[in-house]
Amino acid sequence: MTVINRRTILQGAVAGAAMLPAAALRAAPAPAPVRAGGVAGDEAYWAEIAAQYDVTDAVIQLENGNWGMMSRPVLAAYQQMVAKVNRDSSFYARRGMGTDMVAVQDRLAGFLGVERDEIVLTRNATEALKALIGGYNRIRPGQAALYADLDYDSMQASLESAMTRRGARTIRIALPEPATWQNVIDAYAQAFEAHPEIKLVLLTHISHRTGLKIPVREIAALARVRGIDVIVDAAHSLGQVDFEIAGLGADFVGLNLHKWMGAPLGVGAAYIRKGRVSAIDPDIADENPGSGSIRSRVHTGTVDYAASLTLPAALDFQARIGAPAREARLRALRDRWVGQLRDLPGIQVLTPDDPRMHGGITSFRLAGRTSEAGNRALAATLLDRFGIFTVHRTGLASGACVRVTPTLFNSMADVDALADALRQIATAGT
Ligand SMILES: Cc1ncc(COP(=O)(O)O)c(C=O)c1O
Repeated sequence: MTVINRRTILQGAVAGAAMLPAAALRAAPAPAPVRAGGVAGDEAYWAEIAAQYDVTDAVIQLENGNWGMMSRPVLAAYQQMVAKVNRDSSFYARRGMGTDMVAVQDRLAGFLGVERDEIVLTRNATEALKALIGGYNRIRPGQAALYADLDYDSMQASLESAMTRRGARTIRIALPEPATWQNVIDAYAQAFEAHPEIKLVLLTHISHRTGLKIPVREIAALARVRGIDVIVDAAHSLGQVDFEIAGLGADFVGLNLHKWMGAPLGVGAAYIRKGRVSAIDPDIADENPGSGSIRSRVHTGTVDYAASLTLPAALDFQARIGAPAREARLRALRDRWVGQLRDLPGIQVLTPDDPRMHGGITSFRLAGRTSEAGNRALAATLLDRFGIFTVHRTGLASGACVRVTPTLFNSMADVDALADALRQIATAGT
């Protein structure tokens, strides 16, 4: 018989507080999706996946680009982790948690196929990209950094202020519309050619405005021969499309785990290719700036440790579906509604159909309706009349649009409802 007294409780607490069992960092506690993999159009399979998400039934949720919902198993793991971190507090933090956090980072490195010293956890892609853009120190007064209209607003702002501080300037281009594989490459090539002072380029792998996926590898290759460094904003691509960090051909990448990987809010990462860490200044708060470690490039202070510690559960959940199946499903949902509307007079789908140039996100507008107010009103009509939730986006050189972002819990019926609604709207011209 086990006698429960203060001593045994304490022993239990010590064992529990010291470190997470290795399995907690390896496997999600709740059941896996019923079957592994699954073809994109297998509604029964995807209904099993969807059943693992608690989704609002107030709307048809086609705005999943803001952040990604945690599946129920991941949410359960997170809740357990919140309870543990709260209960064991600094007793855990000062003893086992450091080792557990290293295990999480190692797990992420393995998942991404990079070395452990090439990746550091951040709270989000913004924090990662700010560290990379703000810390980039290979730029000299008189040199320039290039970005495009589709890049994320706060990354544009980061480049502007970082270049000002370094006595350099920015050059902005508008990506061609309609975009093609070649004309996007040409747009960057022409800018490189016209401005030999360019030393740094920001490339957004998948645009949050239109879902345009650009040929990062090809553009990075052009940059490399000119000695131009590349920072990739992969906030929207990790988990939406199947790619390898090394395949991007860039030395610096900012990532989100809380969008398409379904980790708790507050988990992102920065990648710096081995040998390039000195091109990024240490964080100004770092006490050991000479360490040469990627970890000295991001200094966050106290964070939601439970969120980071839940990352393995999120990776497990997504790994059971698999990146190719996930990408195929997102594309199938996208192609289904776009296929019904592409040739409809009155609807302008902005994102090309070339499969190399999109994932699951696609944006559209009513032909000629480019104002912010007009597209805000269109999203409101979709919501108020049809119960479909989307979002308007601005910042494209060509004007505003409405973005549609399906995710793993959406059904073909959801995107069919969108296509039906847009047919009615386009026909009525409202
Ligand atoms: C292209 C892009 N970059 C960066 C970010 C910033 O991500 P976060 O707000 O998670 O830091 C976003 C967010 O939507 C984005 O779409």
